[in-house]
Amino acid sequence: MFPLRRNRRLRTNEAIRSLVRENTITPNDFLVPLFVVEGKGVKEEIASMPNYFRFSLDLLENEVKTLWSLGLKSVLLFVKVSDNLKDNAGTEALNPNGLMQRAIKTVKNACPEMLVMTDVALDPYSSYGHDGIVENGKIINDETADVLAEMSISHAKAGANFVAPSDMMDGRILTIREALEDQGFIDTGIMSYSAKYASAFYGPFRDALDSAPVDLVNVPKNKKTYQMDFANRYEALRETEMDIDEGADIVMVKPGMTYLDIVRDVKNEFDVPVAVYQVSGEYAMIKAAAEKGWLNHDQVMLESTLAFKRAGADIIASYFAKDIVKLIS
Ligand code: PBG
Repeated sequence: MFPLRRNRRLRTNEAIRSLVRENTITPNDFLVPLFVVEGKGVKEEIASMPNYFRFSLDLLENEVKTLWSLGLKSVLLFVKVSDNLKDNAGTEALNPNGLMQRAIKTVKNACPEMLVMTDVALDPYSSYGHDGIVENGKIINDETADVLAEMSISHAKAGANFVAPSDMMDGRILTIREALEDQGFIDTGIMSYSAKYASAFYGPFRDALDSAPVDLVNVPKNKKTYQMDFANRYEALRETEMDIDEGADIVMVKPGMTYLDIVRDVKNEFDVPVAVYQVSGEYAMIKAAAEKGWLNHDQVMLESTLAFKRAGADIIASYFAKDIVKLIS
């Protein structure tokens, strides 16, 4: 009761504020997404993601060493595949000498201790820009899950520590887990994109990989038949529970800032580590406003990231990882 309790006493100066601070950010919190392209000496800025780049394998090596020196110990790999290698079945995804498989080896060679996670979904390889195989205007579930399991094996063989299925097919975690066990990859983990919403915030990412759904008859124009309806809350718990039952080691909520309620729900309900993905559109928004001088870049970056910790996230995938770590060190 006032004046016995004056809450401002705990905010008097930085020393007391830091003493009672409930959440902190460290390099250990981050998973760094990396975009990889073919070529040599390539470091191309992504138009809708200022100061974020696609790297060819030779420069990926330097980038990974830099991350390691900053204390960033986990990466999440994505590849940009040229159009002539794309088809409806994701054939190139299984190429043992494909860009992803070489990227995994490149990171492991450059930095053996770096934890390598790989995106598992067909969209970068799909001529239709979908996460699964398209047949008669539909994304066919079980056949897609089988290909994703093969893709996961291929990544594990190349040296991936974790596979990260981002496709939202039903039952794919079980299919992948069983395939990994069968092939002896018992230590290869699964970080499942468990509650992944059909979000317009993925726009810049699809620019980065040229992976948006194509505009053709009999090809769905969006991903709403597999990614979740953003009006739903309890469905996220059903999705997450299934993925844990099927063998997911880490679960994820995606996007981040507009889904903090879901992060908290998932954290309260389950006892596995919870990841959140601050997606490309969130990054782009902050960058654009900062460029205009409308927001303070560093302060907003830090505030948005801390919000994930407060909401209950154990792991944050963010394009800001490197910038934040530099800022707080
Ligand atoms: C591929 C995938 C997407 C993202 C991560 N993996 C795009 C999508 O589902 O369309 C989005 C990441 C981002 O926007 O930063 N399945």
